[in-house]
Amino acid sequence: MLAKALTAVVTAAAAFSQLGQAQTTPADEKWAAAYEKANTALARLSQNEKIGIVSGVGWGKGACVGNTGSAGSINYPSLCLQDGPLGLRHARSVTAFAPAIQAASTWDVELIRQRGQYMGEEAKGIGVHVLLGPVAGALGKIPAAGRNWEAFGPDPYLTGIAMIETIEGIQSAGVQACAKHYILNEQERNRETMSSSVDDRTMHELYLWPFADSVKANVASVMCSYNKINGTWACESQSAMQKLLKDELGFPGYVVSDWNAQHTTAGSANGGMDMTMPGSDFDGRNILWGPQLQSAVQQNAVSAARLDDMVRRVLASWYYLGQDSGYPQVNMNANVQGNHKENARAVARDGIVLLKNDGNLLPLKKPAKIAVIGSSTVVNSDGLNACPDRGCNKGALAMGWGSGTVDLTYLVAPHEAIKARADKEGIQVSHSPSDDGGAGAQAAQGADIAFVFVTADSGEGYIEVEGHGGDRNHLDPWHDGNRLVQQVAAANPNTIVVVHSVGPILLESILQNTGVKGIVWAGLPGQENGNALVDVLFGDTNPNGKLPYTIGKRAEDWGAAVVNGDDNFREGLYIDYRHFDKQSIEPRYEFGFGLSYTTFEYSDISVSSTATPGPATGTLKPGGPEDLYEIVATITATITNSGEVDGAEVAQLYVTYPSSAPETPPKQLRGFQKLKLKAGEAGEATFNVRRKDISFWDVGQQKWVVPEGEFKVAVGASSRDLRLDGAFTVA
Ligand SMILES: *[C@@H]1O[C@H](CO)[C@@H](O)[C@H](O)[C@H]1NC(C)=O
Repeated sequence: MLAKALTAVVTAAAAFSQLGQAQTTPADEKWAAAYEKANTALARLSQNEKIGIVSGVGWGKGACVGNTGSAGSINYPSLCLQDGPLGLRHARSVTAFAPAIQAASTWDVELIRQRGQYMGEEAKGIGVHVLLGPVAGALGKIPAAGRNWEAFGPDPYLTGIAMIETIEGIQSAGVQACAKHYILNEQERNRETMSSSVDDRTMHELYLWPFADSVKANVASVMCSYNKINGTWACESQSAMQKLLKDELGFPGYVVSDWNAQHTTAGSANGGMDMTMPGSDFDGRNILWGPQLQSAVQQNAVSAARLDDMVRRVLASWYYLGQDSGYPQVNMNANVQGNHKENARAVARDGIVLLKNDGNLLPLKKPAKIAVIGSSTVVNSDGLNACPDRGCNKGALAMGWGSGTVDLTYLVAPHEAIKARADKEGIQVSHSPSDDGGAGAQAAQGADIAFVFVTADSGEGYIEVEGHGGDRNHLDPWHDGNRLVQQVAAANPNTIVVVHSVGPILLESILQNTGVKGIVWAGLPGQENGNALVDVLFGDTNPNGKLPYTIGKRAEDWGAAVVNGDDNFREGLYIDYRHFDKQSIEPRYEFGFGLSYTTFEYSDISVSSTATPGPATGTLKPGGPEDLYEIVATITATITNSGEVDGAEVAQLYVTYPSSAPETPPKQLRGFQKLKLKAGEAGEATFNVRRKDISFWDVGQQKWVVPEGEFKVAVGASSRDLRLDGAFTVA
């Protein structure tokens, strides 16, 4: 029986090495050069060194959250891998950038790229080789899911573009980025036991999409996730790691496990995993590679070629980023902040979405007295970093909780920032720094305007906060925020609600109060919380963010919720606005929505296309067939700032597929551009549409196919405020 089992393993290993061969020289010059260096180095390594390069040294050992073995024969260091997606975790003097969901809310590719570049510079300054971000999974189909805020929201196109900008930004600083969590890890509950299964088309058109863009952006590494896929651990899934990522997308880098997401020695090796982290379980006992991998190779349960392939991928990524010369030593105490707080503030500010502004109460027009109310208007009185990994919701909110956090060096809370500015203008401020409705009402009385603050928090499943085990238990504001708003609004007819939140909350209760005249969706701001808000409230900045997700009226409206047990992704392609559109559900505030202090007019759409029908057939480059990324249509439109003040508008392009395609969501975002326009100024928005953006995944052909017929395009200010229509025909 043993012999039989061993034969089966050897056959699997042999089948693998055939699959694996195609990638030894990627069809990309810079990667090919890195592979050449890696091959030369590989020839000089001892077997021990090879094993060390792909194995973590064990939890709690080494300077970083992940550390590999070094290789003296080629001057290869112990690789340092560190969280995470909004800056450097466990470091002393770093920037707490605005979280990714806030970056998405800016729709500003320049700010998003700069954010990535600055994170990369901070990582390099500390000596971190691999920054564990950005995040495209969870994609965010479930509005209450705990870690959505670490990523860019539930639209794959917006997420894909944000992944490209962030990865190119990080890697421009010479640091390896890591796209995570791969894949179908959409919730925290049971994440380490549940299985996700999704049909092949939805996999490609939603969940794999932003990872394809990441590979196209030459991401050095990808992290396999905790969950199972079709019953197989993600970090053992040959169909996810080998077939989709490496064979189909031509990924030349390496797959690293999420921390302790590995379950078997040979299974993960033969499935396509290339590095294990942290190298043991969290007790430091169970070790699956290291010496175990050594013996698996000796017994031929894992082929020597597979081990070489792992090492080659890891080394090539190191060479690709130029980390083989002059890389700093790890120093978690280095002050690497530079001027990066400017980006932190800009992203926090430009990600603010103005949802409601009755009677143009905002921007403030020199009122005599304002009130500032709520426990989140001040810093946590227990201390800035009192809760490890931000695992509590006390005081001003900067980020969610979990491994994707950083220790704050400072946090500008709303009251502090508003008070400083109000003092300069001679505005009186009454303050109630608690969520007590009575005290709030008292503070609100007699103020010209009352600002009342509510929050919603979420995070990673290893910490529970106020009964929320990572995912949120509900979509209401925390700390009885609806009641606080009600009492304040009853006391003051000019109440403005400021929401700091990880994702959508239900606003129906808040909107029932006639005293609520405004809602400022301040999102999840990072360390510059109060400063960003002041910029918008006082009119130094005209609000210009747009929602990167839908705000529905009832929790059921999204059609996706946290599940117990396995998730079969029955909603398929219909998540977030795709679902609201398909089911004709009226959202409260739609995807892409956001008000401004000015108005914008849309005119003069022009549409041109050179697209041909049929499958993409180009050379396989990182990201997929080369022609998938060619521009095949261009749509332009004129946007005019028709109001009295300068501002910025995010113009959005939505595409409707022809009826010859299999059933497709009614419309899908396929372009956006933020235009900064002075009062009276006009500008041209240009949407360059890639072949990928008008293709569907043909399950039968296993190819991206452009369908024949008429594509309808619409340009507008949100997914439901479409101002211009056009079309092009592919024949
Ligand atoms: C999972 O199973 C479904 C249904 O059989 C299939 O369509 C899909 O391609 C599988 N996914 C992976 C990643 O193997």
